[in-house]
Amino acid sequence: MDQSPAKFVLLLMAAAAAWICVFPVVADARSAHAVAAGCIPRKRDALLAFKQGVNDTEDDLVSWHEGSQDCCRWEGITCDNATGHVVELDLGWWTSFLVGQISPSLLSLEHLESLDLAYTGLCDHAHRLPELLGSFKNLRHLDLSNTLCHGEAPPQLGNLSKLEYLDLSVPAITQERDLKNISWLTRLPLLSYLDLSYLNLGSVADWPLVVNMIPSLEYLILYDCSLPSAARSLTHLNTTNLKHLDLSRNYFGHPVASCWFWNITSLEYLDLSNTTLYGPFPGALGNMTSLQWLDLSNMGNKATMTVELGNLCDLGTLRLDRSLSSGNITEFLEKLPKCSSNRLQELTLKSNNMFGKLMNSMGQLNNLTMLDLSHNNITGTIPLGIHKCSYLWHYDLSYNHLTGAIPSWLGNCTRLCYLSLSNNQLTRAIPTGLGNCTSLEQLYLSSNHLTGYVPSMIGMLSHLCDLDLSNNNLDGMVTEEHMLALKNLEYMDLSHNSFSGPLPLHFGSRWLRELTLSFNYFNGHIPKYICQLKFLFVLELSYNFLDGELPQCSHAPSLIFLLLSNNNFSGKFPSSLRNYSRLNFMDLSRNNFYGTLPSWIGDLVNLRYLQLSHNLLHGDILPNITNLYCLRHLNLAGNSISGVIPSSLSKLTAMTQANSKKHGTDKSCSSNNYRGMTKEVWLVVMKRQELKYGTGFFDVLSIDLSLNKLVGGIPDELTSLNGLLNLNLSWNHLAGQIPSRIGAMESIESLDLSRNNLCDEIPTSLSNLTYLSSLDLSYNKLTGRIPPGSQLDTIYSENPSIYNGNIGMCGPPLERNCSGNNGLEHVNQQNSEKVYGPMFFFYFGLGSGFVVGLWVVFCTLLFNKAWRVAYFRLFDKLYDNAHAFVVVTWGMINDEETTG
Ligand SMILES: *[C@@H]1O[C@H](CO)[C@@H](O)[C@H](O)[C@H]1NC(C)=O
Ligand SMILES: *[C@@H]1O[C@H](CO)[C@@H](O)[C@H](O)[C@H]1NC(C)=O
Ligand SMILES: *[C@@H]1O[C@H](CO)[C@@H](O)[C@H](O)[C@H]1NC(C)=O
Ligand SMILES: *[C@@H]1O[C@H](CO)[C@@H](O)[C@H](O)[C@H]1NC(C)=O
Ligand SMILES: *[C@@H]1O[C@H](CO)[C@@H](O)[C@H](O)[C@H]1NC(C)=O
Ligand SMILES: *[C@@H]1O[C@H](CO)[C@@H](O)[C@H](O)[C@H]1NC(C)=O
Ligand SMILES: *[C@@H]1O[C@H](CO)[C@@H](O)[C@H](O)[C@H]1NC(C)=O
Ligand SMILES: *[C@@H]1O[C@H](CO)[C@@H](O)[C@H](O)[C@H]1NC(C)=O
Repeated sequence: MDQSPAKFVLLLMAAAAAWICVFPVVADARSAHAVAAGCIPRKRDALLAFKQGVNDTEDDLVSWHEGSQDCCRWEGITCDNATGHVVELDLGWWTSFLVGQISPSLLSLEHLESLDLAYTGLCDHAHRLPELLGSFKNLRHLDLSNTLCHGEAPPQLGNLSKLEYLDLSVPAITQERDLKNISWLTRLPLLSYLDLSYLNLGSVADWPLVVNMIPSLEYLILYDCSLPSAARSLTHLNTTNLKHLDLSRNYFGHPVASCWFWNITSLEYLDLSNTTLYGPFPGALGNMTSLQWLDLSNMGNKATMTVELGNLCDLGTLRLDRSLSSGNITEFLEKLPKCSSNRLQELTLKSNNMFGKLMNSMGQLNNLTMLDLSHNNITGTIPLGIHKCSYLWHYDLSYNHLTGAIPSWLGNCTRLCYLSLSNNQLTRAIPTGLGNCTSLEQLYLSSNHLTGYVPSMIGMLSHLCDLDLSNNNLDGMVTEEHMLALKNLEYMDLSHNSFSGPLPLHFGSRWLRELTLSFNYFNGHIPKYICQLKFLFVLELSYNFLDGELPQCSHAPSLIFLLLSNNNFSGKFPSSLRNYSRLNFMDLSRNNFYGTLPSWIGDLVNLRYLQLSHNLLHGDILPNITNLYCLRHLNLAGNSISGVIPSSLSKLTAMTQANSKKHGTDKSCSSNNYRGMTKEVWLVVMKRQELKYGTGFFDVLSIDLSLNKLVGGIPDELTSLNGLLNLNLSWNHLAGQIPSRIGAMESIESLDLSRNNLCDEIPTSLSNLTYLSSLDLSYNKLTGRIPPGSQLDTIYSENPSIYNGNIGMCGPPLERNCSGNNGLEHVNQQNSEKVYGPMFFFYFGLGSGFVVGLWVVFCTLLFNKAWRVAYFRLFDKLYDNAHAFVVVTWGMINDEETTG
């Protein structure tokens, strides 16, 4: 269905080539049409009658009219220059979409040699391909591709014994069209080009036999034909002229060696991509010495390749992506053609579980333009260069286990456009010579162990539009010298390194779209230059030491993602942000912003994620915030916000079950993503821990208002947000009852109301919350019995401290009986007071000290199963160190809490 345009062009070229080779005479005649004889009146009448049946809304056939005598001059008509007979009728590509009925009058054009009705809806009276086409006995070229006619191709086409070219392929969208009988093809002995793409040949089991009866066949294109099988052994091979065979996107599902065509040594082009063939490739492949193009990709990683390809001297393209189950890359490369002039230009072996080392023998691949060995398990170092890499423009060894340094010979590849070595274990730093690859447009070196400075030569790469050096140990400064000449840069990711110093005042390019510098040691201010980046939609500077105020950009930039958390930014809550009307994500947490929450926050109606936690904000939560109907995540924790929780928070309808599953695809909420997003660390304090999420984060609908100075009650209306997974209102001064309808918050998994002044009994509906796995009601003024329910019992048994500090509570599972005086127990009370002190500091330590990741990684892993939590490679490294430490700490806390 999604046939690539490149492929389409290729088919066209093949068709054009066939046309030029096969019909030089017709082509000549066309250019010199109607020089001598002119149009025969009978033919002219036939053509006019034909036009009657055509709905020519765009007036394509305007030259066809009564007043124009010489029909040989009409557009789309070619006559034989000697006889005046119409020999070619071409209503294909050049016309707009003609629809209508093919009039039988057309039969007068009995000398027709070429008929092209491609991309039309010209059919018979019943909208089928007309049977009368079988009457044009002189036809050599028939193109019925992409016509909108129903029904099977009429078997009468088998009468066209002179036919050399037949294209019956249908538009990809009408794949339901069947072709159950193709035996009539065997009556076309001269047929050299046959395209049946997208027709359903699912019931034609013997198609290889039919094909084998067409000895002159050179081009056979059966792309996406639902062919049942290609397994067939032919005693006598007839199709010895076949050059071009395209069987891609047919799900054969049998051993590749049993296919019928392996002995056809005339093949120049073989496409078996997306065919689910498996098993070893047959040795006969090594005898197909005419092959120039071999596409064996996407067969499903169940094939193996041990064939000697050394004799395939003409091979220019070899694609094997996602086809092999495994293999030794060293041995594979040894089997590649070793001919005096090596024509191999494109070699792709992506995602094949290949192991072993790259050998220096690769240096013989002089003409290589594209090499993709990514997503394998290749080890060792990157070998010595391709001797002359002057043609190389695409080099991808990413996602392997390569070690050693980035070789400096890459600097000689002056045509290199695309270089990816990311996700390996490469060390040392980036060679200066790379600056010579002045054609480079995309450079990916992320997720390695690169160290040292970034050479300023990188600044010579003036075509560079995409630069990813993230997840390394690079250090030093990023200066204007690096940046100024990078006039075309659109994406830059330097995150998770050790860069330091101030940000460059200028970034060179005005086209920057994503700027990701998080997790470094950058300090100083954000340069004013940011305001000039009109296309910037991602600004990620979190986890640095940046300070000062945000630049006041006057016009409203295109920013959608603004991530500035964990810096030292200060100043009043930045009013310039009100211009950023497209903002989707705003994370300003863990800075020193102060002042009140402005009412205009409610104008940023595209916000899905608003995190302002751990700043110095004060004042009330203004009801305007409830204009944010796309908001899925609201975190204002750790400020000094006072006043009451507005009941209108219930208007945050993106947090209801009805809307939450839609992922913001509701009519007006846009759901934007960007590439670096998976690397960002999304924190949410939930289940009594600070959890870290990758992309799974967007499923975590959350409100966190903890650690503030909120007063009043918990509004009943809040319970209508039944899509929320996390509600944290702990460490406030909330009073009153827990809303009795709390059980309506069906999705909730983590509910923390601890450290408030909530009173009265726990509503019985709480036990309705079947997804609840973490609850904390400790240190309130709750009284009475705990509602019965196995869910609450389980939570309690896992963490008995959840009701601590509520002196009035009694009954099972608590040990305290509900006696007449409501079971006051002084002993317990004293105990919990004791615990209060150290716990308080512990939580604070958790809040500030652990953010960098030790704690969160552990917790992430803890909840991995339930939460599809993604964590990041960087933290893998830390994990080993962190694990032991955190386990001990966690164990201690648990002990303390249970004893408390
Ligand atoms: C011709 O095509 C136009 C536009 O598609 C359509 O409105 C009209 O009904 C057609 N006329 C006939 C006779 O089919
Ligand atoms: C007519 O076509 C033939 C080839 O079919 C060509 O040799 C001849 O020159 C043409 N005559 C004219 C007058 O163009
Ligand atoms: C080879 O082609 C000829 C001509 O179409 C046919 O008669 C013959 O049966 C074919 N042989 C096989 C083995 O199919
Ligand atoms: C290919 O030819 C070999 C002999 O050269 C024969 O043994 C084999 O069966 C043939 N394969 C097919 C699929 O026809
Ligand atoms: C071929 O398979 C790959 C991987 O399964 C898929 O991404 C691609 O879209 C498929 N191509 C076609 C044309 O079906
Ligand atoms: C390859 O061709 C040679 C010579 O024609 C033949 O001897 C050999 O059997 C063929 N190999 C295969 C696997 O078909
Ligand atoms: C490949 O390179 C060699 C020189 O190394 C050259 O002679 C030959 O023509 C090239 N082939 C192609 C197809 O470019
Ligand atoms: C891969 O093959 C080479 C050459 O045969 C051999 O030296 C090497 O040990 C193999 N690698 C592995 C991992 O088996």
